[in-house]
Amino acid sequence: MKVLVTGGAGYIGSVTTEMLCDAGHEVTVFDNLERGYRAAIDSRAKFIQGDLRINTDILTAMADVKPDAVIHFAAYIEVGESMNIPIPFFENNVSGALHLLEAMVANDVKKLIFSSTCATYGTPERIPMDETLSQHPESVYGESKLMCENLFKWAKKIHGLNPVFLRYFNAAGATEKYGEAHKPETHLIPLILQVPMGQREKIFIFGDDYDTPDGTCIRDYIHIRDLAQAHILALEPEIEGAFNLGNGDGYSVKEVVEVAREVTGHPIPAMLEPRRAGDCARLVSDSAKAKDVLGWKPEYADLHSIVESAWSWHQAHPNGYED
Ligand code: UFG
Repeated sequence: MKVLVTGGAGYIGSVTTEMLCDAGHEVTVFDNLERGYRAAIDSRAKFIQGDLRINTDILTAMADVKPDAVIHFAAYIEVGESMNIPIPFFENNVSGALHLLEAMVANDVKKLIFSSTCATYGTPERIPMDETLSQHPESVYGESKLMCENLFKWAKKIHGLNPVFLRYFNAAGATEKYGEAHKPETHLIPLILQVPMGQREKIFIFGDDYDTPDGTCIRDYIHIRDLAQAHILALEPEIEGAFNLGNGDGYSVKEVVEVAREVTGHPIPAMLEPRRAGDCARLVSDSAKAKDVLGWKPEYADLHSIVESAWSWHQAHPNGYED
């Protein structure tokens, strides 16, 4: 298929582009490189530099490429940042989605795979979390993603769009070529690995008074390859609706630090800090629907293999993509 990938220079977009190319798809990446990296774009993909906030950028790209499907990653993603700068967040994530939609409708492109998040649920009513939970986001980030889902649902009713919402839990790990390099980095696993890399002295644990067995927050870490694979499966024309993507296993912050100590052989000192605003105690996926309907089979579910792959990538790319 001819696939247009917005945000293909970012973390999840780069790996999905790599795996789409491996699977023989013809990929064009559309990215403004504000937070992504040129070096993260697979050399087999075409690249168009453009900004979704400028509607002519995406209108022109869509008309040039005329894709069979769009995979839409391009967005701001940091929960904490979203609470400090809500207006640029809504502008980038929601007006970007509107311009994308306008360009898809103008060019009669129906298939859309949207990078959504478990943050659209807010604090869940039950664990593990399936797609029938009500969505009541507790951050501007989660709200912006839910607003996009709603835009796309209306476009389904009115314009016959075929949207798929992939609601991710915590993406982690790397392929040999592409890994996690946010600027600035705020995610747990890459920050932990900066300690054995000699780039920071210790890791801070944000709160140990949550209602969990060791008091630290529990998350469901999913290997980036498995996440990318779900996008490829979702390209099938009959697939539509929402899918939660996680392993169904929760690991506490302390457990993740311990696994990283085992993988790296480094003591990784940890220091307790107060809670970080906006963190839920426990987010764990029920991904039975993705397994049944998409035929999705996570292959790297074990946290050791996830951290090992991240560790290999960071050792090979000590400065991320900024070499
Ligand atoms: N944490 C620490 N110390 C750190 C960094 C993180 O203790 O230095 C803790 C956080 O408080 C949280 C856990 O580690 O409890 C995971 O934090 P991340 O920042 O790695 O990930 P989040 O769960 O906050 O958010 C990520 C993505 C979101 C996505 C969400 C889905 O950033 O885009 O996963 O769960 F919505």
